[in-house]
Amino acid sequence: MNNHNIIITEEEIKNKIAFVGKQLAAEYRGKPLLLVSILKGAFVFMADLCRAIDAPLEIGFMCAKSYYNGTVSTGTVSITLDLDQDISKYHVIIVEDIVDTGRTLSLVVDNLKARNPLSLKVVALLDKPSRRLVDFDADLSLFTIPDLFVIGYGLDCDEKYRNLPYIAEFKG
Ligand code: IMP
Ligand code: MG
Repeated sequence: MNNHNIIITEEEIKNKIAFVGKQLAAEYRGKPLLLVSILKGAFVFMADLCRAIDAPLEIGFMCAKSYYNGTVSTGTVSITLDLDQDISKYHVIIVEDIVDTGRTLSLVVDNLKARNPLSLKVVALLDKPSRRLVDFDADLSLFTIPDLFVIGYGLDCDEKYRNLPYIAEFKG
């Protein structure tokens, strides 16, 4: 587990989340807020981000599976678990681990927009802009990274390494 290059430390993640949490609390305080985490990759980010937002909120989960062959996206995305809330009564923030090709989020955003939330915003922990295949950007990305395959802090390679507390480059 220790031969990976750390590119974002635990402390950097923590500090950035504290900052963004304050911003979001100020922006949404007094409004019905629903954080929607995209499983599995965003589960760690969701757990930390929701605790950094000092305002009433609810949480929900969706599972959008992007199919990978090792570290290469095959381009197929499907929603395998859906929300149990009617989102038309909420301001919704989608909480995602990473925007890579953009396919997953553009699909999830179209899907949720069709349910008429009061507003919809996307917050992503990581952004890999050089890999974009569809025209999509998060409203807020905490860190922009180069074209590396990364693991840790919820992100996996073949379902492993999600429990690393930092973001590291996967070296195989
Ligand atoms: P996209 O649909 O290509 O934007 O990517 C969607 C999903 O692919 C993300 O939510 C991640 O679960 C996964 N993914 C993309 N890049 C990486 C990476 O560098 N490491 C681990 N998972 C990744
Ligand atoms: Mg994944």
